[in-house]
Parts: sequence; structure tokens; C-alpha cells
Amino acid sequence: MNKNVIQQDYSINVKNRQQQNQHNSLLIWFTGLSGSGKSTLANQVEVTLHQQDLKTYVLDGDNIRRGLNKDLGFTPEDRKENLRRIAETAKLFIDAGVVTLAAFISPLQKDRDKIKQIVGKENFIEIYVKASVEACEKRDVKGLYQKARNGEIKNFTGISAPYEEPENPDIIVNSEEQTIKESIQLIMDKIKTKLELP
Ligand code: PPS
Repeated sequence: MNKNVIQQDYSINVKNRQQQNQHNSLLIWFTGLSGSGKSTLANQVEVTLHQQDLKTYVLDGDNIRRGLNKDLGFTPEDRKENLRRIAETAKLFIDAGVVTLAAFISPLQKDRDKIKQIVGKENFIEIYVKASVEACEKRDVKGLYQKARNGEIKNFTGISAPYEEPENPDIIVNSEEQTIKESIQLIMDKIKTKLELP
């Protein structure tokens, strides 16, 4: 970092914003294979929180890659940079007092560790959305597994690029075994305490 770039402090800080919002801010990170159900769950959790008048926002892999990160692909270096930028963005959202949800494959443990380090471990909840490659490939909602098998997509997670299961996630939801409703309940029970909700 350039030593001539100096942090500026403002009168209104994260505590003021959280006090006004009447809840903590937090990053709820969903990791898992393409088609595992990350976006579906992030969406449903946001709906639940929004209905309780919380300030929320979802950062989503496909959406961010169409704008902020449209210069990045799926090599390990690009994924690392993708996730670093998302973590820095999420840090701003947390500072803004927002309950931030993020749905990214984030396949490597070292990249997920880095995200946690950037936003601070006290602000981070990691949810592993577990589903086998076989199940995700069978669902193939976007037809991407088929393209990956045909060789039309390179570096496809689970087929031609690795996915490392999280070593110590806060929550594991299994989208092959649990209903969406059950998974949401599990997630809500955990984050209620973190958000200091009644
Ligand atoms: S990563 O690994 O965290 O940087 O990926 P992410 O930003 O979450 O982007 C994943 C979405 O991009 C689409 N897509 C691919 N995924 C994996 N591998 C390859 N090669 C690839 N190419 C395109 C896909 O729609 C992913 O969305 P989800 O919601 O996970 O299915």
C-alpha cells in the first residue's frame, strides 16, 4: 500500500449505523458447487430478514461477474482476485451497517480464509451448501455441467477444477437431504444470536 494514502475518519461510524438500524452487520457467506443451492438459500434468508425490517443486500457470483468483476475469468488467480474484491466490497457493506449475504463458489480454503481475514472473523459466518457433483450435475439448472463435460467450459468447478470442502464451517446445510425450509430454519437460528435479534 502507498504510504501517502492515509485512512480518513468520519464522525458517523459503524456503531452509530448499527444503533440506528437496531441490528448488527455481518457477512453471511454461502460456499458450494455450482447448482448446490447457494443463491436460492441466500435469496430466502434475505427475504426472511427483510420481512423483519433488517437492512440487507446480496452479493451474487453471476451478478458481480457481469459488472464489477467482468474482467475476471475462472483461473485460480482470477478466482482469488474475484473473491478478494468481493471481500473488500462486503467489508464496506458491513461498515454501512448492512446484513450482507454472499453466494460464491469460493472453492479454495485459502481464499475463504483470506475473506475471513479481510472482513474480520467476528463479522463472518460461513455456510457450506453441501451437494455432490453428481446431484448438481443432475440438476444442471444452467446447462453448464453439460458444457463442461463437452469441453466448452474450461476450469469448471467439480469437473475440471477443484472444490475443497470447508474445514470448519459455522453451518452445513445439505441440499440433497434437507428441504429449503429446514435449511433456512437452521441458518436463521444461528444468525439470530449473531445479529442480536429477539
Ligand atoms: S468463484 O469460484 O467463487 O470465483 O466463482 P463465482 O464468482 O461464484 O462464479 C460462479 C458462477 O459462474 C458461472 N460459471 C462457472 N462456475 C464455475 N466454474 C466455471 N468455469 C464457470 N463458468 C461460469 C456459474 O453460473 C456460477 O454460478 P453458480 O451460482 O455457482 O451456479
